[in-house]
Amino acid sequence: MNASINQQSTWNVQKIRQDFPLLQEQVYGKPLVYLDNAATTQKPAVVIETIGQFYAKENANIHRGIFCLSEQATKRYKSARHKIQEFIHASSDKEIIFVRGATEAINLVAQCYGKSFLKRGDEVLITHMEHHSNIVPWQMLAETNGIKLTVVPINDHGELMMEEFQKLLTDKVKLVSVVHVSNALGTMNPVKEIINAAHGKGIPVLVDGAQAVAHTRVDVQELDCDFYAFSGHKLLGPTGIGVLYGKKNLLEKMPPYQGGGDMIRSVTFEKTTYNDLPYKFEAGTPHIAGVIGLGTAVEYIQSIGLDRIEAYEQELLKYGTEKLLQVPGLRMIGTAAKKSAILSFVLGEAHAHDIGTILDRQGIAIRAGHHCAMPVMQRFKVPATTRASLAFYNTFQEIDRLAEALREVIEVFK
Ligand code: ALA
Repeated sequence: MNASINQQSTWNVQKIRQDFPLLQEQVYGKPLVYLDNAATTQKPAVVIETIGQFYAKENANIHRGIFCLSEQATKRYKSARHKIQEFIHASSDKEIIFVRGATEAINLVAQCYGKSFLKRGDEVLITHMEHHSNIVPWQMLAETNGIKLTVVPINDHGELMMEEFQKLLTDKVKLVSVVHVSNALGTMNPVKEIINAAHGKGIPVLVDGAQAVAHTRVDVQELDCDFYAFSGHKLLGPTGIGVLYGKKNLLEKMPPYQGGGDMIRSVTFEKTTYNDLPYKFEAGTPHIAGVIGLGTAVEYIQSIGLDRIEAYEQELLKYGTEKLLQVPGLRMIGTAAKKSAILSFVLGEAHAHDIGTILDRQGIAIRAGHHCAMPVMQRFKVPATTRASLAFYNTFQEIDRLAEALREVIEVFK
């Protein structure tokens, strides 16, 4: 049977929507159409309840108390790490480091790996479609260590120019850091091909997976990436929690990120020895409720299945692209052959912020701006785009509402 037909017949989006309290809300008396999933996803009730339940009934610090609540909290924290390990198929839970989000994960690599192992003249190869969080940490490293940033260009569709990548991948490159899915364009990059090429020259690769993990199945062993960064809040989980996956041998040779409790084995005024992985990188009391909530989010997403989610979102993307291109004067920014469900566009002379405000009055939440990817805006010579970013709980009817509202925008600007 055709996968798409199979998908349609078993996919019950209305039932899924019932799991998300916020999707039942109204804005300005109209049903909310939430299309800002690349900024943050909504949370299923089960995640909200897990966090509430933790604080109401289970709250205690981990790794410290000998009383039952603390032991229980420690167990749940550990079990969440294991869930994340399975979710991205890491070979060990020691390779899962909890951080605040993808941004902190990349900063950790820049600070701990970069500062120790990259020196003046070494190059870090990134791409023209990186989020600021995969540009600025390397620029900061350029200031302290004298490394150089090189940038793979993108074509007019917003795809990486792979022949340029091959040329830029010289012996000077000591780290490749590349986004899996572009938040501003939706482009899905050929990360496996990039990793193979880099490894062919012995160069490690960091993948920024912030926009990927909730939309496509990620297997870090299959990819063979050296580092993989993502945020919990774009994956149905709470804000303030994210993950850095790193290969054990690399994490082991890296110095700690921050000093404090939990990351040590012993401390004297003369000498401190550090704890084993993953604790070496988790100084201080972590975001315990956030980690446990993220574990539940991952379980929820797995109960639906990322292959089914991706197939449905691809149908939404196809429908949305066709629908929006029928809106007079609309130009899509980001037309890669392989895309995630992100519709970034400009509409005639209307400014993205004005469009956003008009759509908001219709109960439609989108994002307008440079999406923390200013170089992408410069590449396409636009100040900003309007971006609708979809999730598996969005519907075809919501896309119709967006298209209708955009036609109303045109009327306003006539
Ligand atoms: N990086 C997030 C976005 O693309 C906030 O909206």
